[in-house]
Formats: sequence, C-alpha cells, structure tokens
Amino acid sequence: MLRLTYFGQSCFLLQNESFGLLFDPYFSGKTAAMLPAGTPVSYILVSHAHQDHLGEALPLAKKYGAPVISTAEICNYLKQQGCPYIEPMHIGGKALFPFGQVKLTAAQHGGGSIPGAIACGFLVFMDGCTLYFAGDTGLFGDMKLIGERSSVDYALLPIGDRYTMGPEDAAFAASLLQAKNVVPMHYNGNERTKQDPNRFANEVKQCCDSHVIILSAGEETVLKAAQTENGSI
Ligand code: NI
Ligand code: MN
Repeated sequence: MLRLTYFGQSCFLLQNESFGLLFDPYFSGKTAAMLPAGTPVSYILVSHAHQDHLGEALPLAKKYGAPVISTAEICNYLKQQGCPYIEPMHIGGKALFPFGQVKLTAAQHGGGSIPGAIACGFLVFMDGCTLYFAGDTGLFGDMKLIGERSSVDYALLPIGDRYTMGPEDAAFAASLLQAKNVVPMHYNGNERTKQDPNRFANEVKQCCDSHVIILSAGEETVLKAAQTENGSI
C-alpha cells in the first residue's frame, strides 16, 4: 500500500511497506521531530536549495543514513557538508532505485544560494503509481510533455502564487499534465502565499477532470495505482 503524508509547505512522505521517500524536508519552522516515531526515511528528495525545501535534509540524512536524491550541485554541496550518501542526478535523467525509478524534471524557479544550483521536480515511479512532484515552479508548456510521456496518477503542485504558480495556473498545469489526481502544496506558509485550496479545487473543475485531494499538515492519503499502467517513463 502506497501512502502519501503531507507535512506542510512542500514536505511529503511517500511510503510503502519497505521504503519511505521524504520530499523537501522543511517542517514549517518546527523541527522534523514532528515526524511520528518509527517513520521510515529511506531517501530524501530535494528539489532546490531554498530553505523551505532544503530544510532539514542534512541532519535527517545523517540521522537516518538516507541518501539524498537531487541535482548534482546540491548533492555535492551536501556531501561537502558531511551528508553520508548522495544520489546526484540531473534534469531529464532517470535512475533505478530499490523502491522504483526517479526522473528529474525541469522547474522554472531559482535554485537557491548553492553555486550552480537550479530547481527541479521529480517523477517517481513506485508500485505501479506515477507521482509528479513539481517543486517550486511557474507554469511551463513542457508540463504537457510530461503528461504525454508519463501517465501521471498524482501531481503535487504549488498553488501559493507570488513565488510559484497560483491556483489558476496550477489548475491549468493539472490539465496539461492530464493528472488523474492533484494535491495542492506550497501555500499558507506565510502571509505572502495565503490561498484557499478550495478555490484551487474550483479552478481545476473549470478546466479538467483531475480529482483534487486537499491535505492538511499531518494528514495522509492512500494512493491508488492506475488501472491501465502504460509503464512509460
Ligand atoms: Ni523556492
Ligand atoms: Mn518555496
């Protein structure tokens, strides 16, 4: 059973019985100690080096002995800082891991203060399910390409506006991606990204038939694998 738990901002845990993948481990100013005891953290995926995404990647990687999956620049920086295991990748590349496959996607956003760092997103193929984690990004046309090349079961999209897509562009992104389900993220982190996720849900209704799943911090949902998995990467 594949489960997705939201921890606020863009921090999610995707887990099955054997592996836990932690995305952008920022715990909204609290500490990762809010992770329930026994939470499996097998891998940490970092989309870019802004603090609300890089978050506690380094201490958590050390604590759990979890490899960090990110762009080469961010991985190499973390290694210099004492990160025990890294899995450097780059945009457009995919790699096989014990839990499934990961492909790095483009994201239109800054990379943060690490030299050469750029922002990315992730496509994760796990247990017959395809999940797209957009990271921080504006709307871009190649989301259509992502949707054509992969059958996206779950798209995790930022809706906070100002720094990323807002609700209208994120809803349009859901249609470009032909995502079966969409989960809004990166909103209400502060005054500048205040959004009503229900407004996003209404926007989605206007432009496609993606199912919207709104998660509050600490909430989880069970992911369903697609009925017809085309297996495309
Ligand atoms: Ni950012
Ligand atoms: Mn951000």
